[in-house]
Parts: sequence; structure tokens; C-alpha cells
Amino acid sequence: MKLVLCKLLPKTTMSDFSAWAARIQARAESTLDALLPSENVAPQRLHAAMRYAILGGGKRVRPLLAHASGELFGASADKLDIAAAAVEMIHAYSLVHDDMPCMDDDDLRRGKPSCHKQFDDATALLVGDALQSLAFQALAQPGLCSNAGQQVHMIHLLAVASGSRGMAGGQAIDLASVGLNLSQQELEFMHIHKTGALIRVAVLLGAHCADAPDEKKLHAVDRYAKSIGLAFQVVDDILDAKADTATLGKTAGKDAKNNKPTYVTILGLAQAREFAAELHADAVASIAPFGSEGQRLTQLADFITERSF
Ligand code: IPE
Ligand code: IPE
Ligand code: MG
Ligand code: MG
Ligand code: MG
Repeated sequence: MKLVLCKLLPKTTMSDFSAWAARIQARAESTLDALLPSENVAPQRLHAAMRYAILGGGKRVRPLLAHASGELFGASADKLDIAAAAVEMIHAYSLVHDDMPCMDDDDLRRGKPSCHKQFDDATALLVGDALQSLAFQALAQPGLCSNAGQQVHMIHLLAVASGSRGMAGGQAIDLASVGLNLSQQELEFMHIHKTGALIRVAVLLGAHCADAPDEKKLHAVDRYAKSIGLAFQVVDDILDAKADTATLGKTAGKDAKNNKPTYVTILGLAQAREFAAELHADAVASIAPFGSEGQRLTQLADFITERSF
């Protein structure tokens, strides 16, 4: 699993970021592997499908954001692994359901047949259900935080970000918007929920993995997270319109085929790119006061806006 890194970064910074990202991606993979039941354990087919949906693929942007934020707050890497895995489980479940025939009806995900194609619709539905429960099981694990109140707060943050006021709500708006000509404000509301909420909570949970996160710093990373969360989906819309299926590992041109309103249909390509650049600038400005301590978050903002898949 390789990141295509930002061409704007100087070579030394690039290789340093690349090595850091590869290390976090490997940690995410082994944490998820350890948290997921073995496919030899009953019910074997469901466990095999859960592992299929989450292991060995994806850019792991949310784990990278959780670690980058946590490092800024001085959180322990072991605790960050669990928080990062919990968000990635919710994300992977959202992708499994997103691809189902009743939603985007997509046959390809992370370069492989989508979960419901490899298994079946009912199994894919249950994979989503079970990954969601496992995410909360991991985050609620006794002793994760020395302060139980802080751990409950983290669970609460993830619940809100995943539910009808977060990702699931955004997905509902997405489905209800097929064929509609949304205003930019309406589109922003949808994107902030369906994608921004999980990106934002990845950053916040990373910060809350520190024992006593500083309020002012929390406020700054929250602003970063909101901007980069929206930028993430603006870029996803652009890539859907411009990139090819082989590069994306998912079907290109699907938004147009499904008649979805996107930043490309509403603003046009050039303006959508400009908007992503503005959001990137706002994200980077939010963490500028931290100087080099915020470099991982800055590099991730660069990656999110410059990525090719
Ligand atoms: C794709 O997310 C779905 C959106 C929220 C836009 P990613 O682009 O992070 O997908 P993976 O995890 O790398 O496959
Ligand atoms: C997906 O948005 C958002 C969630 C899965 C919550 P998209 O439908 O644009 O994601 P892709 O393009 O299929 O990855
Ligand atoms: Mg969708
Ligand atoms: Mg989709
Ligand atoms: Mg998309």
C-alpha cells in the first residue's frame, strides 16, 4: 500500500513523510488484524467478509490523521492505534454499505470486487453492522484511558460522527439528492456530514488520546479538521470525474452515471479545484501557530488535496 506523495514537498521532507506514513499504515493494518476475529471463528463467512472489507487496502487517511493529531498532543502511539482502528472500522463499514445496490451500486472497491459482489448483499449488510459494533467495542475497551470520563467522551464523539447527525445522515442526504440541483450551501452540508464528520473525529480522537489536551490547541485542530474534511470530499468528487478506474481502484465516472450533485457539477472543475485549494490553505493556517510540531498534519493536508486516488 503506497501513498502518492505531494509533488510540492521538498524531496527530503517527502521521504520523511513517506516513511512515517508507511509506519502508521503498517500499525493500522496490524491493529485491525488483531482486533478482527479470525476467519476460523464462527460465523466464519461473516468474519471472512469483515476481514476482506477492511484488511489490505485503502489509504488509511483517518488513522494517519489520528496519529498526526495525537503526536501533536503528545499521546501514546498504542492508544492512538485503537482510536485510529475504531474510526477506520466505521469508515470501512460506510464503504461496504455505500457500494451496495440500494446505495451507489458499485462493483469495485480498493481494487477488488466490492464486499457484496465477493460475498452477497445480506453478508455485506452484516459486515457493516458488525464493523460498527466492533469499532465501539475497541474504543470502550476497559483501561484504554486512565480517565474513564475522557474515554466516554471519545465514544460519544465517534457515535455522533457516525450517526444521523454525522456520516449516516450525510449518506441519507446523498441518496435523497439524486437528480437534484443543490445549492453550494446544501452540497456543503451533505459533504460535511457524509465524509467530513469521520475525518474530523479522526483528528479529535487523536487529540483526546492525550491525557489532558489543551483547549486552545483542540480548537485549532478542530478548525483544521473541518476544512480538510470538506476538502477531502471535494477532491473525491474531482477524482471521480477526472481519474481512471485503475488508478482509483473504484469505478470512475460513477457520480455522473448515478446523477449525483457534486462540486464538479455545481462549480465546474476549475472552481472545484480552487475551492479545494482554499480549504487546504485554511486547514494549514489553522495549525500554523504550532510550527514544525504540526508538520505531519500539514503534510497530510497536502496529500489530501494533491492525491491522485
Ligand atoms: C472514500 O474514502 C470515500 C469517501 C469518504 C470519499 P477514501 O478515499 O479514504 O477511501 P480508502 O479508505 O482510501 O479506500
Ligand atoms: C462516500 O461518498 C461517503 C461514505 C462512504 C460515507 P462516495 O460515494 O463519493 O464515496 P466513493 O466515491 O464511492 O468512495
Ligand atoms: Mg456514495
Ligand atoms: Mg460511492
Ligand atoms: Mg465519490
